[in-house]
Amino acid sequence: MIKDIIDKKRVGKELSKEELTEIFNGYLKGTVKDYQMSSLLMAICIQGMSFDEILNLTDIFLKSGEELHYEEEFGIMCDKHSTGGIGDKTTLVIVPIVASLGIPVIKMSGRGLGYTGGTIDKLESIPGYRTDLTDKEIEESIKKVGAVMTGQTKDIAPMDKMIYALRDVTATVSSIPLIAVSIMSKKLALGASKILLDVKYGSGALVSTKEDAEELAELMKKIGEKYGREVRYILSDMNTPLGKTVGNSLEVVEAIEVLRGEEQGKFKNLCITLASNMISMVKNIPVEEAKLLAENSIKTGSAYKKFLEIVKNQGGDISKLKVSSKKYEYKSSKQGEIKKIDALEIGKLSLSLGAGRERKEDKIDYTVGIVLNKFLGDKVNIGDTLMTLYTKDDKFKINSNIFEIE
Ligand code: URA
Repeated sequence: MIKDIIDKKRVGKELSKEELTEIFNGYLKGTVKDYQMSSLLMAICIQGMSFDEILNLTDIFLKSGEELHYEEEFGIMCDKHSTGGIGDKTTLVIVPIVASLGIPVIKMSGRGLGYTGGTIDKLESIPGYRTDLTDKEIEESIKKVGAVMTGQTKDIAPMDKMIYALRDVTATVSSIPLIAVSIMSKKLALGASKILLDVKYGSGALVSTKEDAEELAELMKKIGEKYGREVRYILSDMNTPLGKTVGNSLEVVEAIEVLRGEEQGKFKNLCITLASNMISMVKNIPVEEAKLLAENSIKTGSAYKKFLEIVKNQGGDISKLKVSSKKYEYKSSKQGEIKKIDALEIGKLSLSLGAGRERKEDKIDYTVGIVLNKFLGDKVNIGDTLMTLYTKDDKFKINSNIFEIE
C-alpha cells in the first residue's frame, strides 16, 4: 500500500525500486495523490536517500520521457548545466566558443522562474530569435553552423516536471538527493556522453555552502558515471551576482562584450573555465591546452563570429536588441569599501522590475534590469552610483541591504 511505502521512508528505511516505481509512476498516472507524494517528499527531505535509491529514482524519472541520441549522428558532444544563479548568462558565451573550434553543440535550455533568469528568456530578448527549433531544424543547424541554443524539443523527464512543481510549493526543493535526481535525469535524457556541471553556492543559489555544493556535485558525477557518462564539475560562488548585468537584453549585451573581448573579470573567467573543460573533455586534451584554444577563439574574433552565425541561423537580429530608455541611478549614502552585493536581493529587485516571472504564465519585459556600477572590494564615496536600474515605471523598491559598505 502507498501508505506503507511512505511510512517506511518516514522511519528511515530504504525503498526498493519496485516501491519507488509504484509510488512515483502512480503519481504520474494520477492514482497517487498530491498529499501522498508531498508526504513522501518531506520524508525524503528529512531522512535522505541511499545511493541505490537515488540511482533507481533517477532511472524512473529518466524513463518517464524520451531520450535523445544526437551523438549517433554528430559524434561526441558535451552538455553543460548550471544549477542556476543571478546574472548567469554563461551559455551565451560558452556555446559559440566551443562551436568555433569545430565541436558541435546542441544546448537546450529552460525559462526562468522566480529570482533566477533562464537562458531561453535571454535569447528571446533578441528580436526574431527562435527557441522552438524542431528536430529537423536542429540537425540542419548543426550541419550549417555547428551549434544551436534552443528549448527542449521532446518530452524530457515529464516526471520531473510534475514532482518539481510539487516540491516548489511544499518546501522540498532543497533536498540534495532530489536535486541530483531532478538534474541528472534530464541531463542523461539529452544524451551527451560528456557533461559539465556548474554547481553554485551562496545566497542566490539552491544550496548555500560550498560543502553542500560539493556533496551535490559529487553525487551527480557518480550518477552520471553509472550511466557511462564523463562528468566534471565546477563549484562557483553565487553570493554576488555573476558579471555586471541582471535582466534579459542587458545580459545579452554583456555576453556580446565578452565575446568581442571588450569585457574582462569574474564572469569572463568563469566562461573560459567552463568552455575549456568542455573542449578538454571532447578533444581529450589537458584543460590548460583547451584554455589557450578558448582564449584564442575570443582574441581572433571567431567566437563572436560564431555567435552571430548561430543567432542569424535562428532568426535573431542583435541590431534590434532593446534596453529601456528609462533609467534610475542608485547612489551610495556611505563612504567605504563594498563588502557584499547580495545576489538574492538583486534577483528579487530584478523580478520586481519585470525581468522575471513569479508564475509560469507571467510575461517578461526584456528591456528592464540592473547594471552594477561598483563591485566587491571597490572603494566608494557618498553619491557614487552603485547600480543603474533600467525600468518601465517607478514602482520598484530597493532593499537598502543589497550593498554592504564598511
Ligand atoms: N534545478 C533542477 O532542474 N532541479 C532541481 O531540483 C533544482 C534545480
